[in-house]
Amino acid sequence: MTPIVIVGGSGHLGSALHARLPGAVATHHRCPSAGSIAFDFRTGGQLPETRTVIGAFPLARLLQDSSPAERAESVARYIASLRGARLVQLSTDAVFSGRQGGRAEADAPDPLTPYGRAQAQVDELILASAPDSLIVRTSFIFGWAGGRLDKRLAPLVEEPERLSHQVWPHDVYRSPTEVNFLAEGIARAVEQRLAGLLHVAGPRMSIAEFFASALAPLGFTQLPAPKSEENPAVARDTSMVSTRMHGALGLDDTENWSWYPRFLPAALGGSPTDASA
Ligand SMILES: NC(=O)c1ccc[n+]([C@@H]2O[C@H](COP(=O)([O-])OP(=O)(O)OC[C@H]3O[C@@H](n4cnc5c(N)ncnc54)[C@H](OP(=O)(O)O)[C@@H]3O)[C@@H](O)[C@H]2O)c1
Repeated sequence: MTPIVIVGGSGHLGSALHARLPGAVATHHRCPSAGSIAFDFRTGGQLPETRTVIGAFPLARLLQDSSPAERAESVARYIASLRGARLVQLSTDAVFSGRQGGRAEADAPDPLTPYGRAQAQVDELILASAPDSLIVRTSFIFGWAGGRLDKRLAPLVEEPERLSHQVWPHDVYRSPTEVNFLAEGIARAVEQRLAGLLHVAGPRMSIAEFFASALAPLGFTQLPAPKSEENPAVARDTSMVSTRMHGALGLDDTENWSWYPRFLPAALGGSPTDASA
């Protein structure tokens, strides 16, 4: 039996998980990776028999425009396709309104956006129908995995002329999470069979601080001046905290940023200590 199946294993986080979980089988949707098998959540299909499925794909985004009843049906079909395997599903800080930061696992979701509402419902449905499942909430995944940078940093490094057009707010806060740090947290949670809700997140910082911290090791230090956020629809502070991450996984959010250069290739100014990512 395959020990672990990573749905979305061809993606950014999926690649970091695959590098960390020996024997795991990855699925892809449109972009196959080495040894991956095709799986589309929307059409369903057979997943290999396994003890654990990690869902590292945009489940809530795919269901964002569905009605609550359609979402319930889709989640029930997904859980049935697992054939009894334990589910570890990725979730997001968008379940929080951003009116108050530092949200912990015990804080009730108060989503404002369609994406956040879909995610909160999906999380609730999964926990209700598969009580041994684990929902891992995270935020702003960044760093190097699967031979590439994340979707926020990669375009800036590929076309540095874009930098001068960026408007990064100094008053909008997230908990940016390094992709390999996150994968390590998930791997430890799988090993310990954690269930329920778990936040795996880096320390709170503004969007402007995030880009400055992430771009400096890549050699970009001349950045546009930060601005105030004027769009009232942007969630102000969806930063997350977790005593569970520290207590059960032995991971401290202050470590998050030290993982970043460890995985960057030397050509990007990193000092890689783990070539597998
Ligand atoms: N990125 C963030 O900042 C962030 C923040 C909070 C939470 N999350 C959660 O973490 C997950 C992983 O993030 P990521 O940045 O690694 O995403 P990603 O790089 O975009 O990877 C998404 C993965 O999902 C697969 N996929 C897409 N549509 C699918 C479908 N219909 N059925 C099955 N698989 C499908 C993709 O396959 P192909 O590439 O082969 O098409 C890919 O393997 C997200 O989906 C989200 O739930 C992400």
